[in-house]
Amino acid sequence: MDNRCRICDGMVKGAVDLGMQPRANAFPLPGETSDEFFFRLTVGMCDSCTMVQLLEDIPQEVRYHDGYPYHASGSAGHRRHFEGIAETFLEAELTGRDPFIAEIGSNDGVMLAKIAEAGVRHLGVEPSREVAELSMSRGVQVLPEFFDESTAERICAEHGHADVVFGANAIAHISHLASVLRGVERLLARDGVFVFEEPYLGSVVAQTAFDMLYDEHSFVFSVRAIQAAAERFGLELVRVEHVPLHGGSMRYTLARPGQRPVSPAVHEWRGLEDAGRLAEHATLEDFGRRARRIGDDLAGLLGDLRAKGHRVVGYGAPAKAATVTNYCGIGPDVVPFVCDSTPSKQGRVIAGTHIPVKSPKAFSDDYPDYALLFAWNHAEEIMAKERKFSERGGRWILYVPEVHIV
Ligand code: TYD
Ligand code: ZN
Repeated sequence: MDNRCRICDGMVKGAVDLGMQPRANAFPLPGETSDEFFFRLTVGMCDSCTMVQLLEDIPQEVRYHDGYPYHASGSAGHRRHFEGIAETFLEAELTGRDPFIAEIGSNDGVMLAKIAEAGVRHLGVEPSREVAELSMSRGVQVLPEFFDESTAERICAEHGHADVVFGANAIAHISHLASVLRGVERLLARDGVFVFEEPYLGSVVAQTAFDMLYDEHSFVFSVRAIQAAAERFGLELVRVEHVPLHGGSMRYTLARPGQRPVSPAVHEWRGLEDAGRLAEHATLEDFGRRARRIGDDLAGLLGDLRAKGHRVVGYGAPAKAATVTNYCGIGPDVVPFVCDSTPSKQGRVIAGTHIPVKSPKAFSDDYPDYALLFAWNHAEEIMAKERKFSERGGRWILYVPEVHIV
């Protein structure tokens, strides 16, 4: 299956096929599973600009509906991280007279609430109603819409140019990225910056984190592909910083060409990517083969544990859990439930495989023998919180970068 690149119209050849998958954040109610939506999850790379992207695209209105359940402030680690970013912006970028910052996909306002507290002009652009309302209750101004070129023009007319446009785990979710980049280019002040952080292709590939692929991740960014995209839309990649979130993300800073010095890290990371042949079709194909092996190992391990009479429960219901369980055919017969601290996910089921989601209390009330850690990117925080489970002999099963038990 081949496609046209959403950035440059080049040819995108499929390299990784994770089979039929539902919408990862659908979380249907137990009685709502009869007419679920499935699509073929195939990921490929553009021959021309090297952007890694989904071949089949799910309309954004279907993904980011009013009841979209993901809360960016759902972990203490993430809260600290985004509050830190707000502080950095306040100190380093929002220092002029009456500065203005816009955030694309501001979710529950975890970053902008700090900006609002400081009394700085801001606007979150967030189409999912429930999380948008949550952020409004924290004092954040929100435009409840999708961001694109025309939204950018309206924002500019109403609020003026932005000193900072920010996005976290949002920009790679937008399949009309070309329109977003055109919009950002219009919205930015002359010396403004577009800062965004998204899961990094290099980290995904290095860890064989195939569960980072799902319907919402329209793209998986690399330094090389972002450099090319920036150039195409009249911007320049001036800074990159690797950040630990989501198993390894990259924070990119784009500015108007010549406005900011290009940091040495841009060349260093680009060099690492080239040396590691990250932007090659064969690298993605090899990643797909390793994913298959992990999937087989995990299904095998769960089958063995079940045959021995051990009880396995899932920990965390991130979007990633939909990819893994659907890819490996893991259902409630093998993993009777998962626990997750997000109230809007509890009482629902993982899309496609219909594993019920319960509160973490269900886990601690009756510890299983093994906990399959779907939220592996929060391993430290979760294992610290659930120390008692390990102390009582419970074991954690992880599957990134390979299947192992700790
Ligand atoms: P996350 O990995 O942040 O997102 P994604 O959906 O993009 O893969 O999701 C982590 C999930 O784990 C989220 O639903 C909240 C849950 N969680 C817990 O249940 N307990 C915890 O202690 C933490 C940190 C997260
Ligand atoms: Zn391309």
